[in-house]
Amino acid sequence: MTESYQPPVAEFPLLQQNPQLIYLDSAATCQVPAAVLNSFQHYFTSTHANVHRGSHRLGRAATDLLENARGIAAAFIKAPADDVAFASSTTAALNGLAQQLPVSWREGDEILLTDAEHHANILPWQRLAKQHRLVLRFIPVDPVSGGLGDWQQLINERTRLISVTLASNITGAIFPVAAVCALARQRDIPVIVDAAQAVGHTELDVTALDCDALVFSGHKAYGLPGVAVLYMNARWWRRMEPFVVGGGVVRQVTRHDAELVDSIQRFEAGTPNTAAISATVTALEWLQQQRAMGLTGYLQELRQQLVDGLQQRPWLQVLPAGANHTPVVSFYCPQVHAYDLAVWLDEQQVAVRAGHHCAQLLLQSWDLTAVVRVSLAAYTTAAQVQQVLQYLDEAWQMLGPTAE
Ligand SMILES: Cc1ncc(COP(=O)(O)O)c(C=O)c1O
Repeated sequence: MTESYQPPVAEFPLLQQNPQLIYLDSAATCQVPAAVLNSFQHYFTSTHANVHRGSHRLGRAATDLLENARGIAAAFIKAPADDVAFASSTTAALNGLAQQLPVSWREGDEILLTDAEHHANILPWQRLAKQHRLVLRFIPVDPVSGGLGDWQQLINERTRLISVTLASNITGAIFPVAAVCALARQRDIPVIVDAAQAVGHTELDVTALDCDALVFSGHKAYGLPGVAVLYMNARWWRRMEPFVVGGGVVRQVTRHDAELVDSIQRFEAGTPNTAAISATVTALEWLQQQRAMGLTGYLQELRQQLVDGLQQRPWLQVLPAGANHTPVVSFYCPQVHAYDLAVWLDEQQVAVRAGHHCAQLLLQSWDLTAVVRVSLAAYTTAAQVQQVLQYLDEAWQMLGPTAE
């Protein structure tokens, strides 16, 4: 075990108040450290005012805070701050992109996704495809390695857009999105990266990736729900209509038209949730500090212990869990339904998720309907991993075919 890293459990008020809880659902949403909660509260007791409007000093302080947060979020993904907008969620950003992309769609144009996409990166494209008679193509996912199948073959002269997740929310597999971007760039095909599952576990670098857009939700990285960071390449956003329009983004309005500001803030009409944004960038800074202290290596070792333990239990089928994965592991038991296992674990105060995890395509392609997902985070301990394996043994005894 990485000696240097100590899981900072004491920094998580919810976990302190529920010492028996074993929270293994961090891929759905992370628990929030006290530093982030303090930042949220501090905003309301020190800086709360509307942004980009006030001529008073509190309004200017709130605006400065928001713009400082933009700089921190941008640095976190190595993007220019001018190309980073705050959105309310990954889902909202992907919907907005799908409706406003500066692409003149023609019938039969193709959008390339993977079978591993979260529904948030499928439904907006389905809607767009119906509007313009587009064709959606899906890169298959290998059931043994969990990696992408032959994606190069699926890029052709009709491909007008690629939108892919950087990591599967079911297996944790990290996909070769840099290679996808490189080939797409050669062919002048824009790429959108859904980094919701990657943000908590891999360094993000939009400059190295050379993608056209990248988005993640703050709550997947110890931040607050209601905040997403959306990077858009300037080539794109300067030609794109904002997803919503209204106050705060306007230069001049006449009865029948409006001239909008020409900065990235044009994508943030209305009053932003500055408190949650500011708390979320505190979370990103917190995460960077944890990484510097060895978090990534620690979680990889913990994940390996979990995978080894699961694989030693022949009555469990573990979905692909190779080397290049985030600490998210899914499995099922052919004789005991995933929900029954999850309910059993819940009775032991273990929070895991069972079901299709909003990624039905992946499970369908593997002929599965529900799996149990265990996802690890900074506050997970080795003892908790062993405890869960023991509870699974008890579940097998109580619920398996030889149970009385
Ligand atoms: C890969 C992926 N994309 C998108 C989303 C949607 O994120 P949100 O619900 O924050 O919009 C999730 C959430 O689980 C996800 O795992």
